[in-house]
Amino acid sequence: MRGGNTVLGTLFEETLGGNATMPQDRIRLASLRDKIVSADEAASHIKDGMILGMSGFTRAGEAKAVPMALAARAKEAHAKGEPLKVTLITGASLGNDLDKQMAEAHLLSRRIPFQSDPALRKAINAGEVMFVDQHLSETVEHLRTRQLGPIDVAIIEAVGITASGGIVPTTSVGNSATFAILAEKVIVEINLTQPAELEGLHDIYIPTRRPFREPIPVVTPESRVGLPFIPVPPEKIAAIVITEKLDSASNVLPPDHETAAIASNLMEFLGHEVKVGRLTERLQPLQAGIGTIANAVMHGFIESPFHDLTMYSEVLQDSTFDLFDAGKLNFASGSSITLSKAKHDQVMPHITDYKSRLILRPQEISNHPEIIRRLGIIGINTALEFDIYGNVNSTHVGGTHMMNGIGGSGDFARNAYLSVFVTKSIAKGGAISSVVPMVSHVDHTEHDVDILVTEVGLADLRELAPRERARVIIDNCVHPSFRDEMEDYFARATARGGHTPHVIEEALSWHVRARETGSMHAKAERKIA
Ligand code: COA
Repeated sequence: MRGGNTVLGTLFEETLGGNATMPQDRIRLASLRDKIVSADEAASHIKDGMILGMSGFTRAGEAKAVPMALAARAKEAHAKGEPLKVTLITGASLGNDLDKQMAEAHLLSRRIPFQSDPALRKAINAGEVMFVDQHLSETVEHLRTRQLGPIDVAIIEAVGITASGGIVPTTSVGNSATFAILAEKVIVEINLTQPAELEGLHDIYIPTRRPFREPIPVVTPESRVGLPFIPVPPEKIAAIVITEKLDSASNVLPPDHETAAIASNLMEFLGHEVKVGRLTERLQPLQAGIGTIANAVMHGFIESPFHDLTMYSEVLQDSTFDLFDAGKLNFASGSSITLSKAKHDQVMPHITDYKSRLILRPQEISNHPEIIRRLGIIGINTALEFDIYGNVNSTHVGGTHMMNGIGGSGDFARNAYLSVFVTKSIAKGGAISSVVPMVSHVDHTEHDVDILVTEVGLADLRELAPRERARVIIDNCVHPSFRDEMEDYFARATARGGHTPHVIEEALSWHVRARETGSMHAKAERKIA
């Protein structure tokens, strides 16, 4: 595809290169250079009631200066009793405490489709911000069909602007392309600290309109099918702001004893799948969700017998680069790169060494059901809790309080070749069991879940009926301190009959107990440290 595109050929000959350190070097369309303004001036394009589309996906590549200026303005407006509220749509979560600053300034009336900030979480759970928790592949479909929007202003972080006015994103693509294409006005933040060599990493493909949509031509993780920039008519670019603020470092914790055990249980299972001939040692393209547990599980592949691996995922965390360096991973496709400080300092100065093995795509493509099903992905996502029949809650603590959101986990779980969910068997020092009789909120139904893994063991649910699923989950995943209580519940449930037996009036009693006493244990003496 790429070789046949002459526009692309031209563009690659005139990429930014390592010397592009000045604003004028980064804005190749000279007529746009007089659009450079301060963040405050750019933010003045934004009015009360507007819908904003902003770059940013899992703390990577978000616009930084304009939202900060806007939050400061909202704080003043709030103090004076003047209205300044917006709907903010992003790719996923933001770094640099932006969601915190915007929530605390009372700027956000509505937030879509994902967040992971404690202050915003608090505002959401207090009912102050209306949060629409959405499959990450779907937001732009809703925008294109005017079920959502229209976008008034798009604010996009870029490494530069091409000679034709194309926007070159930074460490994430997320929903930026569609925001910029659909928005009335576009504000570009050119970030001089993001390496100019990021240009060429992105692959911007926008599916054709329905109902006559063509198949999306991604047939391997390596497929390049689009442009390396976001095409926008230059006259839509209303302001350009120059920034130098880095992405926030990833906040995942290093692997621990339990996450290493989860990884080891999964490696053993995959080894078995190879032995019986359902997989080869190259496995199939891997997807890993966000957070500490998923990152740790990916680290497990370093010491495994598997090789020549590929990733077709959404966020590429430290583990992706560790796998490259260990010679285990051949290629990774994602929508963002989110690294710890140490990994950032190691990788970013040498990004050209990795570039031929990486692609960043719009999140509707990284997470597209058509491609996930076509590639036969092994999807590894994290549960907050799951129940004895395999339903998974990834989002709501105690059934009511939003944690982060479903993110892309639903896009992958429903369409993967193998849908794996991992979690530690207990939380909060052992007071909470992550395996419960009935989940208090359902994100992934039993129909979308193949494999469950805790540090205790692994439950292979494929082709099992609900009573059989409960048996393997109780035997393999429940923490020993909760096993007797779970056996007791299941025995009484099955005595009542049913295809999916429950003591329905008791099914959420573990959550009720946790809310009232801080522990799911029926008897205090069963509590562990
Ligand atoms: N009940 C209540 N709280 C629980 C819990 C349970 N059953 N299980 C875990 N938690 C708490 C932990 O105690 C921890 O709390 P803390 O932040 O106060 O310490 C928090 O949830 C995070 O858990 P942790 O064990 O550190 O796991 P993680 O960093 O891997 O995150 C999720 C786990 C589920 C929150 C995270 O993966 C997520 O948001 N997933 C949904 C989105 C998703 O899957 N996206 C994938 C594609 S983007």
